[in-house]
Amino acid sequence: AHAQVAQTPPMGWNSWNYFASKVDDAGIRAAADIIVASGMKDAGYVYVNIDDTWEAERGPDGKIRTNSKFPDMKALADYVHSKGLKLGIYSGPGTKTCAGYPASLGHEEQDAESYAAWGIDYLKYDLCSFIPDVMQKQAPNDKAAQMKIMIDAYVKMGNALKAATAKTGRPIVFSLCQYGWDSPWEWAPALGGNLWRTTGDIQARWQSIYDIASQQDGLAKYAGPGHWNDPDMLEVGNGKLSAAENRTHFSWWAMLAAPLLAGNDLPHMKPEVRAILTNKDVIAIDQDSLGQQGTRAYSDGEVEVWTRHLQGGALAVAIINVGSDKTANHPFHLDLAKLHLSGSQTGKDLWTGKEVTLSDNMPIQLDSHDILLVRIDHPGM
Ligand code: GLA
Repeated sequence: AHAQVAQTPPMGWNSWNYFASKVDDAGIRAAADIIVASGMKDAGYVYVNIDDTWEAERGPDGKIRTNSKFPDMKALADYVHSKGLKLGIYSGPGTKTCAGYPASLGHEEQDAESYAAWGIDYLKYDLCSFIPDVMQKQAPNDKAAQMKIMIDAYVKMGNALKAATAKTGRPIVFSLCQYGWDSPWEWAPALGGNLWRTTGDIQARWQSIYDIASQQDGLAKYAGPGHWNDPDMLEVGNGKLSAAENRTHFSWWAMLAAPLLAGNDLPHMKPEVRAILTNKDVIAIDQDSLGQQGTRAYSDGEVEVWTRHLQGGALAVAIINVGSDKTANHPFHLDLAKLHLSGSQTGKDLWTGKEVTLSDNMPIQLDSHDILLVRIDHPGM
């Protein structure tokens, strides 16, 4: 939580989606090395985030300890910093994390100080056991009181991070992970939250990606420099997602001004996955300095059209086939008036790199779950 961080949506990689508990010091160092060698760093990926399962029981002084997978967190942070990258970590307001490891309840200041002393740059703070341990215990059957207790827990860690980072001068991005409960977009920015999850956990399946993306419509007005809606980490390259699904997932998150936290198996990253994750034109949509999240303009049958306003009057248009059949079999009608555009528009297809002209009712061939993503630098409105 710091005025200077997350001016654009955070970019990096997180261990959870692919490695889960199989994360360790060597794996994080390898991730950092690959982020540099693959060109991901040059494309803007900065944060290397350790998710759950690094924690061990506290010492007699109450300080959180790392388990045997992470022998020396300070040395690891130094290594990641030496690559020009930043290190993220994970905890929660309860007694235990989601995976059952020690969390921060009653040790918030101490933990923030440990993170600051290690050189941590990013904290994901996950509600988990705080729900049964504190919220439900302290306010049984009183949902409103439970929500207030929850918000107070995030305020507490927000303040602890502010105090600890004021001493070191090294800011820590504050990522709220409470699945969108009680509209965090309303209250998280004020307590120093830089991003907040808006839904439950993502999975490497089209339906999950589609459901989460759909739930972002209506939240655009809450996003902006320093504070972002978080539709969860990327599944690009995971599971059995098709090439089209990987492209669409990545493009959609860029349209949503979402944090771009890759979650794939970096040591075995396929060239086509690397190509998607490092598409600089698509990343430029995500990282646009205006920070204005895209919205759904309209849908026609199984095709959705989303737009995002960009710096300098430019416009990104995403035409997404969310259906299970190719558009040739369920034709859709491009209606530029619904995008507040007058007449044909020439822009760049960000996946082929070629010039493309959009015009009313033009035939658009899209495979199932594929996307046409166009940047129009000088739209005729
Ligand atoms: C929750 C979070 C996930 C991940 C796991 C770790 O489910 O939403 O992103 O951090 O916990 O246990």
